[in-house]
Amino acid sequence: MFDGVAKRYDLTNTVISAGQDRYWRWATRRAVAPRPGERVLDLAAGTGVSTVELGKSGAWCVATDFSQGMLAAGRFRRVPMVAGDAMALPFADNSFDAVTISFGLRNVADIDLALREMWRVTKPGGRVVVCEFSTPVFAPFRTVYMEYLMKALPRVARAVSSNPDAYVYLAESIRAWPNQRRLARRIGEAGWDQVQWRDLTGGIVALHRAYKLG
Ligand SMILES: C[S@@+](CC[C@H](N)C(=O)[O-])C[C@H]1O[C@@H](n2cnc3c(N)ncnc32)[C@H](O)[C@@H]1O
Repeated sequence: MFDGVAKRYDLTNTVISAGQDRYWRWATRRAVAPRPGERVLDLAAGTGVSTVELGKSGAWCVATDFSQGMLAAGRFRRVPMVAGDAMALPFADNSFDAVTISFGLRNVADIDLALREMWRVTKPGGRVVVCEFSTPVFAPFRTVYMEYLMKALPRVARAVSSNPDAYVYLAESIRAWPNQRRLARRIGEAGWDQVQWRDLTGGIVALHRAYKLG
């Protein structure tokens, strides 16, 4: 599916999020807080648009994704890229200072396995940041948002995306995704400590951050 949306992926994101995607990426970089000299894994990085933002910090950031089409569509970005599956990462234990995943975890077939793999490749003391669609906290807005998602999003996608059906899936996968508290629990169960989250844009997106202490 992601090979099929790769060509117009970046543009479609900006259109359907009304430009908010740039703010979400900036906030993710602030939460990861990479420092020059650190090694950062950007998992499910797709076209590398999230990796470029992280790289502004001066840290060494590598994009990993299992869609060859997405990686190829982002080749012009000249960020380091490694093809790989989030559920069987092609990296040694304890090899990254930070691991992050933006709008990717929701798409992974086994999210608990992916969270454990992310823990395995992170150095002790390192951190994880998950940027993902979530549940708006203000109930009336939540209702409007779910209406927008179910009705408008596939129609907008039909006008701009190279594979509109993928955006019907997007709407459905957001509705099925655990809310902030439930996702925090799953992250903790995968071995991560001190799990906290912060809502962005009223909870349309949430940033979860945790540490590997063990
Ligand atoms: C919505 S895109 C996010 C891309 C990028 N991080 C961003 O912020 O725009 C989700 C990505 O997750 C990738 N993905 C899904 N399951 C995966 C897996 N098991 N291993 C690696 N990548 C995966 C897809 O190929 C796709 O590129």
